[in-house]
Amino acid sequence: MKVLVIGSGGREHAIVDALARSPRVEKIYCAPGNAGIARQAECVSIGDTEVERLRDFAAAQEIDLTVVGPEAALAAGVVDAFRAAGLRIFGPTKAAARIESSKEFAKDLMARHGIPTAAYRSFTDYAEAWAYVAARPLPAVLKYDGLAAGKGVVIARTLSEAEAALKDMLLDGSFGRGKVVVEDFLEGPEFSFMCFVSGTKVWPMALAQDHKRAYDGDRGPNTGGMGAYSPLPFITAEDERFALERIMRPVAEAMVAEGCPFEGVLYGGLIKTVDGIRVIEFNARFGDPETEVVLPRLKSDIAEIFCAVADGGDARPEWHDFATLGVVLASKGYPGSYQKGFPIEGLDRVEGTVYHMGTRAEGDRILTAGGRVLLVVGRGRDLREARAAALRDVGRIACDNLFHRTDIGHCAFEKPNEL
Ligand code: AMP
Ligand code: GLY
Repeated sequence: MKVLVIGSGGREHAIVDALARSPRVEKIYCAPGNAGIARQAECVSIGDTEVERLRDFAAAQEIDLTVVGPEAALAAGVVDAFRAAGLRIFGPTKAAARIESSKEFAKDLMARHGIPTAAYRSFTDYAEAWAYVAARPLPAVLKYDGLAAGKGVVIARTLSEAEAALKDMLLDGSFGRGKVVVEDFLEGPEFSFMCFVSGTKVWPMALAQDHKRAYDGDRGPNTGGMGAYSPLPFITAEDERFALERIMRPVAEAMVAEGCPFEGVLYGGLIKTVDGIRVIEFNARFGDPETEVVLPRLKSDIAEIFCAVADGGDARPEWHDFATLGVVLASKGYPGSYQKGFPIEGLDRVEGTVYHMGTRAEGDRILTAGGRVLLVVGRGRDLREARAAALRDVGRIACDNLFHRTDIGHCAFEKPNEL
C-alpha cells in the first residue's frame, strides 16, 4: 500500500512510525511533515488545509489510503473532498467532525442521548448569559463555540472574571461569531479515551493522560500538552467499561442515528468525578501528545485498522503490556512568544523514541521550528521505568532554547517527582 499522512507534528510522526511497522505498507508520504518524519516518509510540501492539492496529489500518486492528523484539515473538508473523488481516507466528514468543532453540537447530542456530561446552556445574548452565570455556583466554565485552538475555554472563579470573559466572547467579537456554552465545573482527574470508530463499530485504544499546563506541579499557562503516559493506574476496568458502553459506543450510535456517521478516531476527553465518569469534550481525531504514547503500545497492524474503519470492515486492536511515558521539549517562552532556529544536538545518543513536533532540517543539522519541538518516549515494565527512561533520554539531548516538565505522570505516582 501507498499511504499519505496529513499533518506535521508529533502525532503525525507517531502515525508514520506505526505505519512503518506494517508489512502491508510499501511507501509513506507525509504532507507537509517535518525533519523527523522525513527519515521515515517522503515529505511533500502541501499544507494540511490545501484540500484540492492534497486530493490531486493522492489521485496522481495512486495513494491507497490517506490518514488525517489535524482538526484543521477535517474542518477544511478534506475527507469530503477525497470521498467525492473516490479516494480512500481515514477520518470523519466535516459534518461528523462537528463533534469537535462545535461545542453546542456536542453538548446537544449528549443531552439528546443521555450521555453523562456537565449541565450547560448556550447563549448568544450577553445579558441572558450573564443572568445564567450569576445564578449558578462558581467556578463557571465558559466555552466559546467554535475551533479556538484550546484558547476558547475560561474557568471563571469569580463573577468579575466571568463578566470579563463573557464580554470578550459575546460583546467585543474578538473571537468571531459570538456564541458561548456555559457549563458547570467538574472536578477530578482527566483522561483521554481514544477509539477507532466506523459507524456503530467502536474499538477502544489504550488510555492515556495529557498534561496541559506548561510547568511542573500543573502550574503556568495552558499549552497544547507537555507530556502524556499510558496506561492509567487510577482508571479501573469498571471505569473503562462504563466509558466504552455508556459514553463512546452510544455517541457513535447517536451519530449514525442523526445522519452523520463517524469514521476515524473519536477522542473522549473524560473526567473521573466522585459521581462517576463525565465527558469534558470530544475531539474528532487522534490526540496530541496522547497518540505518541498510545500507538507505540499497539501490537496490531495499524494499516489494517485504518482500512477496516474506512471500508466498514472489522478489526481487533491488541495492546502491549509495557508502559510508555512521553516528555515534551518545548521552546523557552512557549505557549507565549518564543524564538526558533536553535540547533539540537544529541538526537543520535537517544536510546528510546523521539517524535518530532516542530523541527526543520538545515543540511545535516536539526533546528527548532515550533513551540513544541520534540517528544521523547520512554518505555518500561511500569510507568516508573518508563519515566526514568524518558528522562535519561531527555538528558542526552542538548539545545540552548528548550525546557520540559520533570513530573509527567505525577497522578500515577505517590510523590510527584518520585522515580
Ligand atoms: P475543552 O476545550 O472543552 O477541552 O476544555 C479545555 C480544558 O478546560 C479541559 O481540558 C479541562 O481541563 C477544562 N474544562 C473544560 N470543561 C470543564 C468543566 N466542565 N469542568 C472543569 N474543567 C473543565
Ligand atoms: N491532547 C489534547 C488534544 O489533542 O486535543
